[in-house]
Amino acid sequence: MLLRLKASMLSALRIVSLMLPWSGTMAQAQDFDRNDLDSWLSSEQTLAAAKISANLLGNGAVLASPSRSGPDYYFHWTRDAALTIDVVLDRYVASNQLEDRAAYLRQAQNYVDFSLKIQSQPTLSGSIQDHFANFGEPKFEVTGIGYQQPWGRPQTDGPALRAVSLMRIYKLALQRLDAQQQFSASMPGMKNAILADLEYTAYHWRDQGYDLWEEVRGQHFYNALVQQRALVAGAAFVKTYGVPGDAPRYLAEAAALEAQLARFWDPGRGYFVETINRSGGLDYKSSNLDSGVVLASLHALGENSYLLPNDDRILASAHALRSTFATLFPINKVSRDRAQLQLAPAIGRYPEDRYDGIGVSQGHPWFIATAALGELSYRAASLYAAADRIVITAQNEAFFADLPGIGQRLRRGDTLARGDAAFRDVLDALLRSGDEYLARVRYHAAMGGELTEQFDRYTGYERGASDLSWSYASLFKAVQARSQLIAVLQK
Ligand code: NOJ
Ligand code: NOJ
Repeated sequence: MLLRLKASMLSALRIVSLMLPWSGTMAQAQDFDRNDLDSWLSSEQTLAAAKISANLLGNGAVLASPSRSGPDYYFHWTRDAALTIDVVLDRYVASNQLEDRAAYLRQAQNYVDFSLKIQSQPTLSGSIQDHFANFGEPKFEVTGIGYQQPWGRPQTDGPALRAVSLMRIYKLALQRLDAQQQFSASMPGMKNAILADLEYTAYHWRDQGYDLWEEVRGQHFYNALVQQRALVAGAAFVKTYGVPGDAPRYLAEAAALEAQLARFWDPGRGYFVETINRSGGLDYKSSNLDSGVVLASLHALGENSYLLPNDDRILASAHALRSTFATLFPINKVSRDRAQLQLAPAIGRYPEDRYDGIGVSQGHPWFIATAALGELSYRAASLYAAADRIVITAQNEAFFADLPGIGQRLRRGDTLARGDAAFRDVLDALLRSGDEYLARVRYHAAMGGELTEQFDRYTGYERGASDLSWSYASLFKAVQARSQLIAVLQK
């Protein structure tokens, strides 16, 4: 099947190069042997899922990492857990093996039980009486007790992400017989947990809090976009399963969040900044450029249609990240791997980062951020493939100019219509661009495929928390987005 795919892609490119003045495309496409990457990615995706399973404790706690010291990540973070359980649900949906499905359902059940437990805990982030302010606690002991030490709290993104994951489980439990049996006793509790997370989000999104990297106090792009998505999804949810009268309020808050999100666009810099109204925490993020913007667009995908991965301003932000990290990290001077595959630049959280995975010195590239840039490229291509045209604009032209093979031929004002060979060329180039990011991930992964949190900006070797659940989830999602795009392109 893989061989067939490659042949069909090359023949598509050949037609293009005969018909249009795009003749450079073919030679460059040919020196990129996708087969080799295909097989690594499919085994890596399987490994990622197995590593995630190993990080799920029997009581439902989702370990951020099994590492207990240097650094100690042996905790349940609400954010990491929601993003991780989504992979378990993907595996459940994709599997037709009864035993596997039952195991995934048990893992989802444990996650639900643990979520209910931590929602009931008093935490240092606030009181349950204050519209569930206790939910802002970012991090819990694996026993379910809120973390009791100083930390960057509250973090307002967690309940939104958890609401989305619980709504997915709730709907699966209504749609599929085995899920229905598994969750038969849990539905009322789960619904209450969802409504409470939505209530928290609708009420608290304006609060000052810490960003997804737990460092800066203010209002954050990442939080706002995942909150907006949760409330849009939540409005649809309560219409069908809850109190429909709550829907208008959620939609009104979602609309207010859209207006809020527009304030993060910095026309002078040409990207979305991550934080506005900063009120504490780190003060040296002078560029305010952050991979959290790309992660937000990916994590908000679903019910909403705002700031999708092919949005011009999201692409502009992705380009700014790419060009900044390309020169910032010395390891990016290595631009081809052992198989001579072109490598995209390794990406970090933000340029001024000083967290080295254990303590504070110098920041490094992250697997999460590098895989996210790849996933963005695939998802943007799938969205374009479903549209009628691709328009090169002042905001997205720099992103398109980076595309392998054809980028330099695209000009502001170009409109590529479905059916044009160039339209297809751009989709192929987006696929290849995504592949260059995942080839970068492969280049720095351990021999056995294990992923940590970071890899060294000078040597490329892994660093920071071992077997990070979120690293595996981000790789899994990127490969999933790639497979979906390839299926679209094969049609
Ligand atoms: C731990 C946080 O999780 C991480 O994001 C942050 O960079 C460091 N603390 C800073 O010390
Ligand atoms: C540090 C990261 O900055 C934060 O986003 C994450 O939640 C924790 N590590 C746990 O993985």
